[in-house]
Amino acid sequence: MKINARLKTIGDLVEANSFCLDIGCDHALLDIYLVKRQKNIKAIASDIAKGPVEQAKNNIKKERLEKEIEVRLGDGLSTYSKEINTIIISGMGGKNIIGICKNHPKVLKKVNTLIISPNNYQEDVKKYLCKNGFYINNEEFVKDNHFIYQIIIFKRGKKKYTKREYFFGPIFLIKKGPLFREYYEKEKKSREILLTLLPKNYRYKRYKTKKELEMIKKEIED
Ligand SMILES: C[S@@+](CC[C@H](N)C(=O)[O-])C[C@H]1O[C@@H](n2cnc3c(N)ncnc32)[C@H](O)[C@@H]1O
Repeated sequence: MKINARLKTIGDLVEANSFCLDIGCDHALLDIYLVKRQKNIKAIASDIAKGPVEQAKNNIKKERLEKEIEVRLGDGLSTYSKEINTIIISGMGGKNIIGICKNHPKVLKKVNTLIISPNNYQEDVKKYLCKNGFYINNEEFVKDNHFIYQIIIFKRGKKKYTKREYFFGPIFLIKKGPLFREYYEKEKKSREILLTLLPKNYRYKRYKTKKELEMIKKEIED
């Protein structure tokens, strides 16, 4: 079964011998890839909606992996069980991801690794998780179909971050590289456009956007 570059990169970041819960599995292509990697990775695919759960089951059946991948229907971390040490949440908005984590704080305390790929509000996700028992262990960019996605790996523990590190990502700032520049060139352009469209009375939004634009320019033009 064909997997896209984004999901493949997420799959390759999962450590050998992990027991994963993939929240919002949709088609379960990631879970199929994970167990086929033969790194002794176990996976539970879960989704809040019946349609994706049915599709996941069909795909898993086609691959004859019913014994290896369990599919669970449920909202967010409600599908957790104690053998799981790694939680994957990808392809969702950052606010939804924060909501999923907020709804089950006790579950969040039990896991060691979170692999998170939010479509937006990445800074808010980092702030929330780093204030709730995790630090940022790794960050990767992946380009897929003209879009650049962020993948952030959180591990249990504590670290303090500056405003700049929360905004850009502490590991991204160390690694930098061509996708960092390309990503923030786009972020710069989108903020420049936004500033031409925002009405004058949206004072806070204009202020925040200007400040972010300054930060981005400083980082990529230095
Ligand atoms: C766009 S798909 C992403 C699929 C896959 N994770 C990926 O990265 O390609 C989002 C999936 O998340 C599911 N979802 C949304 N909110 C959820 C929640 N609170 N708990 C579990 N699944 C959720 C949706 O039903 C949908 O199947």
